[in-house]
Amino acid sequence: MPTLEEQRFDELIAADARVEPRDWMPEGYRKTLVRQISQHAHSEIIGMQPEANWISRAPSLKRKAILMAKVQDEAGHGLYLYSAAQTLGTPRDEMFQALVDGTAKYSSIFNYPTLTWADMGAIGWLVDGAAICNQVPLCRASYGPYGRAMVRICKEESFHQRQGFEILLELMNGTDAQKAMAQDAVDRWYAPSLMMFGPPDGDSPNSQQSMAWNIKRFSNDDLRQRFVDMLVPQAEALGVTLPDPDLRFNEQTGHYDYGQLDWDEFHEVLAGRGPCNGQRLAHRRKAFEDGAWVREAAAAYARTQAQLEKV
Ligand code: 3HC
Repeated sequence: MPTLEEQRFDELIAADARVEPRDWMPEGYRKTLVRQISQHAHSEIIGMQPEANWISRAPSLKRKAILMAKVQDEAGHGLYLYSAAQTLGTPRDEMFQALVDGTAKYSSIFNYPTLTWADMGAIGWLVDGAAICNQVPLCRASYGPYGRAMVRICKEESFHQRQGFEILLELMNGTDAQKAMAQDAVDRWYAPSLMMFGPPDGDSPNSQQSMAWNIKRFSNDDLRQRFVDMLVPQAEALGVTLPDPDLRFNEQTGHYDYGQLDWDEFHEVLAGRGPCNGQRLAHRRKAFEDGAWVREAAAAYARTQAQLEKV
């Protein structure tokens, strides 16, 4: 016989209502939210590195300012999401430590190198474009703090995607060398961006329960398909070729069929053997260590303030 608390939780989910931090929730619901939200936050923080790599080499002051704003946005998204995860009772320090120790997951996509300026365009258009496809449904996640955090994050993601599209459009209207640079970046970032949506539905151990709890609204493959369908006309507008010989419109389904992705590569990257995993974690560790004095000073200040308030 379900307890009153279990009944109330089930009623909230059945009514597609929000679950708030004060509400009782099954341990599994809490656990999978901490898992997903903390990994999402880690992705935003690590995701700053590939683009930060090009801030000092941006081709104009305007491009430098836009890229700085985008990287700063990603930091804010990470802090938003750590705050949302903390409402589930997980200390921020614990999440930070898991990332620094290399035991926490973050999105595979950020383990690829950014080789030219055109990568800034490909990341904005493809990676942030994929993020929007994945994150807009998360605005309706059943867990209140997560869904609400995603609303602001998605508004900023659309700026990220548009500035990336514009970088590629400028290059595709440039010299032959600039066109080739843009096409090379799209060739390298297309497949890894499709893998951002997670493994195929048949290999997704978390999806079914996450969808039953209204955390996830659509399956990995459904969102991946939505992204590909969105990409094709945009690639035509840019004049770039998506590097997928099997990409073709399917009259029966009304969607674009796309080629088989390299899931061995995906699992290699998740196992820490991607092109940049070691570099990304080493950079994060150094930033964490270099920032220790700031955290200590803030904590000391907070203690003295708390003492003063007692006086
Ligand atoms: N990179 C790393 N790990 C991945 C992954 C990816 N692209 N896709 C799946 N995984 C992991 C999952 O975390 C899970 O491992 P775990 O059980 O140890 O956590 C395992 O692979 C199986 O995957 P599932 O499909 O069962 O897992 P989920 O149901 O959690 O689905 C997800 C994966 C679609 C990424 C989902 O977690 C999600 O929607 N997360 C929120 C969005 C997010 O994290 N996006 C990451 C990019 S952040 C970003 O794009 C920032 C932007 O500014 C660019």
